[in-house]
Amino acid sequence: MKTVLVTGGSGFIGSHLCERLLETGHTVINLDNFNDFYDPLIKRRNIANALSYKNYTLIEGDIRDTSLLEQLFKNRPIDVVVHLAALAGVRKSLENPLEYIDVNVKGTTNLLEIVKKNSVDKFVFASSSSVYGINSTPFRESDSLPVQESPYAASKMAGEQFCRAYSHLYGIPIAALRFFTVYGPRQRPEMAIHNFTRLMDEGKEIPVFGDGKSARDYTYISDIIDGIMAAIKLKCSFEAFNLGNSSPVKLSQLINIIEQKSGKMALKRFMPTQKGDVAITWADISKSERMLGYKPKIGIEEGIDRFVKWYNNHKS
Ligand SMILES: NC(=O)c1ccc[n+]([C@@H]2O[C@H](COP(=O)([O-])OP(=O)(O)OC[C@H]3O[C@@H](n4cnc5c(N)ncnc54)[C@H](O)[C@@H]3O)[C@@H](O)[C@H]2O)c1
Repeated sequence: MKTVLVTGGSGFIGSHLCERLLETGHTVINLDNFNDFYDPLIKRRNIANALSYKNYTLIEGDIRDTSLLEQLFKNRPIDVVVHLAALAGVRKSLENPLEYIDVNVKGTTNLLEIVKKNSVDKFVFASSSSVYGINSTPFRESDSLPVQESPYAASKMAGEQFCRAYSHLYGIPIAALRFFTVYGPRQRPEMAIHNFTRLMDEGKEIPVFGDGKSARDYTYISDIIDGIMAAIKLKCSFEAFNLGNSSPVKLSQLINIIEQKSGKMALKRFMPTQKGDVAITWADISKSERMLGYKPKIGIEEGIDRFVKWYNNHKS
């Protein structure tokens, strides 16, 4: 059983990961600063269940706080770091690029500096499908990465590059996981599936950017958590992996599925394509299948059904 430091453990993906780690007997330290990227009360709710475990510790703090990190590593041996804390989202990064660099690049490097001095079995970095930009699909880990389409994408690519450099220089075993549009219970409220479901439920218009033909490789949260758990166990120096569903869904199709599963009509307001958005994401997952035994199990229909049920039970 390992002691795992999860940064951003109160967020969407992090709270699910902490629960899986606790259920499987690991000790978990969640370092999260409860920033106001979205309502911090939602993050408090995300961790309510995890707080009932005795082998769970919540540290409210910032990944950029070097002395806090030093203290953390001094107080107890940490076997694994899963670094999820970040400013997420493409669109907001266009408004606030410096903050994205500060948290996503400086924050990541600050953690790598600590890990360099305190050896760990594995450092897992949350990267993103956005690093592939407008590459031809499906995206493969061996693709050369193009000009980045947003400060967010550039910050994730930089984070990966720092991981690669630290692994090379100091022998830190690192897995960079490129997540493809993750959804499911607790999804961030501004992300399309959650936002559309809420607006449709409230009888409001949904903003549809572009002509509805853009496509995303939506990946269900439990599949992502399976991939992270496998990456924790993997023996490697530095590896990048796609964690996607390998089955892109058009925006128009996504809206139809939400309508069917929720029984609500979508009032669509068509808007121009947004800067930073790409036409399609599509993961080639053969490397993850081969090296991580990764096999996504939840298709879009089942996943949206589960999400809508969760939404209806939690909307109040
Ligand atoms: N959700 C997706 O579809 C998706 C896709 C690709 C990559 N990712 C990456 O996965 C990770 C988790 O994403 P998410 O959707 O769960 O986001 P989230 O915003 O729900 O979770 C991030 C958490 O990090 C915390 N945090 C932010 N800055 C921090 C700091 N300086 N110090 C400490 N904690 C801080 C936040 O309070 C939040 O709880 C992020 O790195 C994101 O870029 C997510």
